[in-house]
Amino acid sequence: MDYNKKNVEDIDVNGKKVIVRCDFNVPQDETGRITDDKRIVAALPTIKYLLEHKAAVILCSHLGRPKGEFKKKYSLAPVAERLSELLKQEVKLAKDVIGPDAKALAAAVQPGQAILLENVRFHKEEEKNDPTFAKELADMAEIYVNDAFGTAHRAHATTAGIADYLPAVCGYLISKEISIMGKALANPARPFVAILGGAKVSDKINVINNLIDKCDTVIIGGGMAYTFSKAQGGSIGTSLCEEDKFDLALGLLKKAEEKGVKLLLPVDTVCADHFAADAVPSVCEAGKIPDGMMGLDIGPKTVELFSQAVADAGTVVWNGPMGVFEFDAFAIGTKAVAKAIAGSKAISIIGGGDSAAAVEKLGFADKMTHISTGGGASLEFLEGLELPGIACLNDK
Ligand code: 3PG
Repeated sequence: MDYNKKNVEDIDVNGKKVIVRCDFNVPQDETGRITDDKRIVAALPTIKYLLEHKAAVILCSHLGRPKGEFKKKYSLAPVAERLSELLKQEVKLAKDVIGPDAKALAAAVQPGQAILLENVRFHKEEEKNDPTFAKELADMAEIYVNDAFGTAHRAHATTAGIADYLPAVCGYLISKEISIMGKALANPARPFVAILGGAKVSDKINVINNLIDKCDTVIIGGGMAYTFSKAQGGSIGTSLCEEDKFDLALGLLKKAEEKGVKLLLPVDTVCADHFAADAVPSVCEAGKIPDGMMGLDIGPKTVELFSQAVADAGTVVWNGPMGVFEFDAFAIGTKAVAKAIAGSKAISIIGGGDSAAAVEKLGFADKMTHISTGGGASLEFLEGLELPGIACLNDK
């Protein structure tokens, strides 16, 4: 998808009220403490630019899926606190979203100051993209900035609908995400290698399909590889399998062959007799998994095969773990792939979600060219789908 959208530098924000949609959907522990603030940090360049250019900033975001009701555990209070620390100035949290407190704070916020509205998903109108709700939010401001890349695949009131009522531009995070990923897809340094993992073929089918059109090599690992293996007549024991996706899997193999794209599947597998952190691992040939055993990771020969493909790549896109990386005994394949990408000279783009978490957990984050802040959003971008949160913004 080719976007040429206005950004914050293309509009005069001086003295203006600017409502900024961020993705502050951050993980927290049971006490509400933020365990990973990367999404908050990623929004800072836009917020700082606006504050320095004397905009009065009204921030908004969702957190979790509170299903249209106020729930304390989904309050943005910890985010307001973290933002205040990072910006070294107070960011007041409104008690509501479009209620009296939000309206009073939004009316009072001065150029160079920022406030945060409560979780926009406390109103069911948000996810319904309700125009009245979007208009009430728009009425608090003069300009709309979307910087919520992680939520850009949702057509909600604060990610899309609000753009009907205000001049609408993107922030630096959205600009960066779409320019890096857009360039990789449109004009990649070759060979262009995609590594796709994760449990289900059904989640990745459209990504695989789109990437076969663009890549030189497509590597498939993770739980979905067992569906491909069984579709080809292999034995997969009790491994994950989507029998209703056999035709799709065979269709993708055929398409890759017709296009001269290398499609690499695992050649060996690390199995165990049950799904647990302390299950005893053993290696067997792919497609020859004994009855009663399940594949939980790629095997050592596969690691070598995949690492070789990555070593020669000009661009690598990776989305989805190679095995059950939450369990140390079955994280070896995912770790090896992360290490191979980190050690290659390729432009490396890590789709958000599990693969981003794996790269962080394994300590390779600073070796990657780009780790997307979007899970579902980066996947839809790689599928070639239009993202409503970006499509709604004003063209240059
Ligand atoms: C995410 O974490 O992927 C985004 O914040 C979107 O959240 P959602 O899947 O609840 O819409």
